[in-house]
Amino acid sequence: MKHILRSVFILALLIPSGWVYAESSAVGVANAKTLKIDRGLTPEGKACITCHQQTTPGHVADWKESRHAHAGISCIDCHQVAEDAPHAMRHANVEDTPVFVSPLVSPKVCGRCHVDAKEQFDASGHFRAYHQIIPKDNLHALQVVHEGRNHPELSGAPGETGCMQCHGTKIELDENNRPTAETWPNNGMGNIYPDGSTGSCNACHSRHKFDIAEARHPHACASCHLGPDHPNIEIFENSKHGHLYNTEGDEWNFDTAPDAWEPGDYRGPTCATCHMSGIGELAVTHNVSERLYWNLWAPESKVRGSDDVLSPLLGDGPAGREKMKTVCSNCHSSTHTDNFFKQGDKAVRLYNEAYYQPATKMLDELKEKGLLKANPWTDEFQITYYYLWHHEGRRARQGAMMGAPDYAHWHGFFELQQDLYKLEGIYKKRMESGEIE
Ligand code: HEC
Ligand code: HEC
Ligand code: HEC
Ligand code: HEC
Ligand code: HEC
Ligand code: HEC
Ligand code: HEC
Ligand code: HEC
Repeated sequence: MKHILRSVFILALLIPSGWVYAESSAVGVANAKTLKIDRGLTPEGKACITCHQQTTPGHVADWKESRHAHAGISCIDCHQVAEDAPHAMRHANVEDTPVFVSPLVSPKVCGRCHVDAKEQFDASGHFRAYHQIIPKDNLHALQVVHEGRNHPELSGAPGETGCMQCHGTKIELDENNRPTAETWPNNGMGNIYPDGSTGSCNACHSRHKFDIAEARHPHACASCHLGPDHPNIEIFENSKHGHLYNTEGDEWNFDTAPDAWEPGDYRGPTCATCHMSGIGELAVTHNVSERLYWNLWAPESKVRGSDDVLSPLLGDGPAGREKMKTVCSNCHSSTHTDNFFKQGDKAVRLYNEAYYQPATKMLDELKEKGLLKANPWTDEFQITYYYLWHHEGRRARQGAMMGAPDYAHWHGFFELQQDLYKLEGIYKKRMESGEIE
């Protein structure tokens, strides 16, 4: 609340229009501190705010509530680009000063001031969200050929309204240097910007408030981490920690400074607490892969151990496990924590050894004998195999590792055994008859 009030003071000085004076008289006249900030803003910088208060008041209202407004960082600091930048466009301008702007604000722009956040993001699994899709022909075929029906004009729609909105894409520009409709707007995590940088800093703390309190809430992750193949928000709600958050989270304090958010502000962890926030001796990290042991999304789970940001095994498994246990140790005994991970690891190994491996053995044999259909999406065996690892298998593994019994069991192992019986039935029929049913 305190800093919101302060930003109102700043605006009061910046904008000599009726609405601000009305507001400033309600909260009192600005003091010397805000005068200093006022001097930091150039006339062009002020003009953006004045005019946009009329044209797009939503942007200004959100910005006004941000730490940026408090610190005197405004539209021009993020949106101005060099005249020769690929995405530079001429804008309804301030007097005769030529200011080039773009609606695109890349992580490189944020990284000018937030060096650590950008470096950590660049070393995380989030960084590869789109890069990893580029070489995968089968995934492009799924989007364009099967889902898009190879339609001469419209085949891009499934990718543009689906994958891209979570994973991002390479943002392309039209002849006026504006982003094209095929590539923007999108909130995808791994956007590749015209300036070459990658990411989406507003994926978790949305523009123009850029609030850490927002990013500490589980729903800041939920627009992407949900659904049949990675139901992380549903898993969280099903866990005891979700129970705590859902019954009393609205009374917790999400507003403390970075690195100072500790038990006492909250009784139970959110996604951010376990995967990103500073807690006890751990510092804040924008590298969400840093505290992980397994890879739980791949067809087979292996222990992490790679520096290559494009590798599924990005991270250091044993070190990641130690860090994750440090999170738990703030609120649980080591017996509680060690036993919890023994339970979870057992479930991951059972999935690997009793489901993934036998299913893959059958798949390989059928392939060798020419008993798989060329189009996997019309082949009952291949479809069921896909569900086994990509849906049910992930739910069982992620449910077990984050304490969600409904996902570990009913949406997980229960369905896994059904998948495996089905695969065995089709396999037997094809091997005996030598043909595809
Ligand atoms: C005199 C009024 C005025 C001034 C001054 C002004 N803008 Fe704008 N701006 C507009 C209008 C009008 C639009 C178009 C809105 C629309 O397309 O609906 C716009 C659009 C934009 C866009 C989006 C462009 C797009 O194609 O999506 C950005 C970014 C932007 N302005 C930033 C700035 C910045 C930064 C400044 C200060 C350097 C600034 N504006 C100054 C009126 C202004
Ligand atoms: C801290 C950096 C920052 C500041 C300050 C900032 N913006 Fe933005 N703005 C962004 C980001 C990030 C995006 C999303 C860009 C993207 O998709 O690449 C954005 C998007 C936009 C867009 C296009 C998307 C839309 O929703 O229409 C407009 C217009 C815009 N900002 C106007 C403004 C105005 C006006 C101000 C000042 C009141 C402002 N911005 C201040 C970072 C900033
Ligand atoms: C010109 C420098 C500058 C740029 C560019 C910039 N920031 Fe900031 N940012 C700051 C300053 C200064 C603060 C305030 C630090 C404080 O309050 O202690 C801040 C604070 C923040 C915070 C913390 C807010 C809170 O609730 O405490 C977030 C999150 C943030 N910025 C994100 C971004 C993002 C995302 C971008 C790019 C879209 C960006 N910043 C661009 C300087 C910048
Ligand atoms: C805009 C969508 C989006 C949001 C919001 C989002 N993520 Fe992700 N996340 C992704 C995508 C896409 C991937 C997969 C990246 C890849 O292609 O490997 C991912 C992967 C991950 C991974 C696995 C990384 C690895 O190395 O395998 C973790 C952990 C994760 N996210 C945690 C979080 C947390 C915690 C939050 C909220 C604070 C969050 N994510 C918010 C889209 C998102
Ligand atoms: C609702 C958001 C969302 C949509 C839509 C989405 N994904 Fe994902 N995807 C994710 C998240 C989140 C993960 C990370 C899962 C995890 O870590 O367990 C992920 C993981 C992946 C992975 C594995 C990560 C890696 O590095 O190899 C691939 C491949 C992938 N998605 C491709 C796609 C493709 C292609 C589409 C569209 C056909 C798509 N996704 C649609 C959110 C989404
Ligand atoms: C996956 C979600 C997510 C993404 C993406 C993300 N952040 Fe954050 N960010 C958070 C969370 C959660 C916190 C709060 C950590 C804590 O509890 O103190 C935070 C805190 C911050 C802070 C204040 C703490 C600090 O370390 O100074 C800044 C500044 C910041 N983020 C900038 C950025 C920038 C710049 C980017 C893009 C490179 C970015 N964020 C991308 C989730 C995210
Ligand atoms: C109590 C701490 C805790 C909370 C809360 C939590 N997680 Fe996790 N998360 C874990 C642990 C532990 C693992 C498994 C790490 C390992 O490999 O040992 C994990 C794994 C993951 C993975 C799988 C990465 C992969 O390899 O496929 C994703 C994605 C993820 N979490 C996202 C989230 C999201 C999103 C939320 C909130 C909706 C959340 N987590 C809440 C502790 C937590
Ligand atoms: C901020 C404190 C906090 C952190 C951090 C935390 N937990 Fe919890 N956890 C709790 C509380 C409080 C409960 C509810 C206890 C109850 O049921 O009475 C709980 C419940 C649980 C439960 C349900 C079983 C039980 O004893 O009630 C498991 C399992 C669990 N936590 C595991 C973990 C793991 C693993 C981590 C680290 C990855 C972790 N927790 C991190 C506070 C925390």
